Amino acid sequence: MAVTDQTQIQEHTTRTCHLRVYRSSAGNGDGHFDEFDVPVDGCETLLDALRWIQLNRDHSLSLRHSCLHASCGTCGMRVNGREELACVCKLAEHGDEIRVEPLANLPTRTDLVADMGPLYDHFPDPHPIIRVSEVLPAARRPDGHEAYVRLEDCLECGLCVSACPIGAPATGFVGPAALAAAGRLLEEPRGAERDDVLSWIGRAEGVWQCTTCNACVQACPAGIEPLSAIIDMRRILVEQGDLDPLLQHTLQNVAMQGNSYGKSARTRARWTKGLDFTIPDARTEPVDYLWFVGDYASFDERVQRESRRLATILHDAGVSFGLLFEGEHSAGNDVRRVGEEGLFEMLVEHNLSVLREAQFQAIFTTDPHSLNTLRNEYPAYGLDKPVYHYTELLVDLVSRGIVSLSAPLTGTRVTYHDPCYLARYNQITDAPRALIAATGAELVEMPRHGANTFCCGAGGGRIWMDDSGPGERPSEQRIREAQTLDAIDYFVVSCPKDLAMYTAAAQTVGDVSFEVVELTALLERALSDRSRSAAAAPA
Ligand code: SF4
Ligand code: SF4
Ligand code: FES
Repeated sequence: MAVTDQTQIQEHTTRTCHLRVYRSSAGNGDGHFDEFDVPVDGCETLLDALRWIQLNRDHSLSLRHSCLHASCGTCGMRVNGREELACVCKLAEHGDEIRVEPLANLPTRTDLVADMGPLYDHFPDPHPIIRVSEVLPAARRPDGHEAYVRLEDCLECGLCVSACPIGAPATGFVGPAALAAAGRLLEEPRGAERDDVLSWIGRAEGVWQCTTCNACVQACPAGIEPLSAIIDMRRILVEQGDLDPLLQHTLQNVAMQGNSYGKSARTRARWTKGLDFTIPDARTEPVDYLWFVGDYASFDERVQRESRRLATILHDAGVSFGLLFEGEHSAGNDVRRVGEEGLFEMLVEHNLSVLREAQFQAIFTTDPHSLNTLRNEYPAYGLDKPVYHYTELLVDLVSRGIVSLSAPLTGTRVTYHDPCYLARYNQITDAPRALIAATGAELVEMPRHGANTFCCGAGGGRIWMDDSGPGERPSEQRIREAQTLDAIDYFVVSCPKDLAMYTAAAQTVGDVSFEVVELTALLERALSDRSRSAAAAPA
């Protein structure tokens, strides 16, 4: 919309949108929010609304824009916590209350204008992620040096960097945009030495920092997939044997024992000891559900208690379920994400051969990482059974009255952390919330929730690597985010790794007023009749 048109927007419109807009003078530490009621009619995009504010309410509001059609990449900002280009961000899609902030992980110059300098700093000479310019020889530099241009499809908008939980470039992490550029350069290495690129991406600040959360892919307005490039580059490094010794050791454990802990495969089901019932072996006895437990829920002592809790809930409800016992090996989701494709295929082959021995109608798992590969990747190798997260299974059991929650946790306030591999990868956000609602507890959402969740920092094999370094860990940032909520009793998780990560993060942050609990613990407290034994076949 032309500037002159902006002034013609009628202020007596029937509908307004309330904008809370971040204001700050460069480096003054005076960040605060100003509030504006903006007429929606005539303001189709967020940029329209911000320009309306500039023209009609506050001329001093700083923002940056140019092309107005998602080409120049200059108008990136966060809208209700989500990275957007303001010029194509539809106002109507964000409700009547909109919080507008500058991009994260970059310094703020003034108001909504981020300083893109640290982003560009990851593209300069001598880093080989730029290529020799293809401009005409006459345009070459007179000093005889090569002229360089950046790879052209990236808008350099910084949305991916803002969305990244590793805090690029504040923590030194090269960041998704630069890594995507490096990946393209490896595919078409004109003007760059392949070995230089590989040593650049393989350093501590390079590809190994990535948690594979997928936020950069979902934020990118240009359809660039930094994560695919990152995993491809990890594969090359793994093939060369160029990887962290701790990670290498873990992969050897998986190869030798079928689990990342390096424990004897025979001990995989030892967590079931202490139950006052026996879980059937699905390889020898038909069951309705096959529980693919995963490494963390099997071997981590903090999580084993939660596995027993879920087993008891299901047993008491009369659900027919069984295990593969020592036959189960790591599903391989994280093995694939660190780039060990060969080992991933060996794991798939092994698990499928054992699953073929078993008789069951559907699989469930508590582990979102295992769920992701079993549900989305194993079918390409021959798995033809549905795969559920345990929250989906329990919602079904509650809705059918097989699990009855009638001891409501009235007065209990909880927040819920969506795991990336549930929410971003598999859009499973409703089932855990339905279970929390069924307990009677009040759910208070963190600013980043649902499909726009924040990563715990453990994914993509990061849990097997050294996570010390500059900056606060993502899990600690998340605990601080929950601390901004009023009077929360529980920080609820639905992923074995999350339980481990956030329990540790809460201890590190210290002085945390809530308890980190697995959702099953909340459910157990709300169960009314634990002796129920109705039949519970898959729906
Ligand atoms: S996948 Fe997540 S951690 Fe990795 S680069 Fe993208 S945003 Fe950052
Ligand atoms: S990769 Fe995508 S999101 Fe990141 S800077 Fe480039 S265009 Fe923007
Ligand atoms: S103004 Fe160019 S991308 Fe928004």
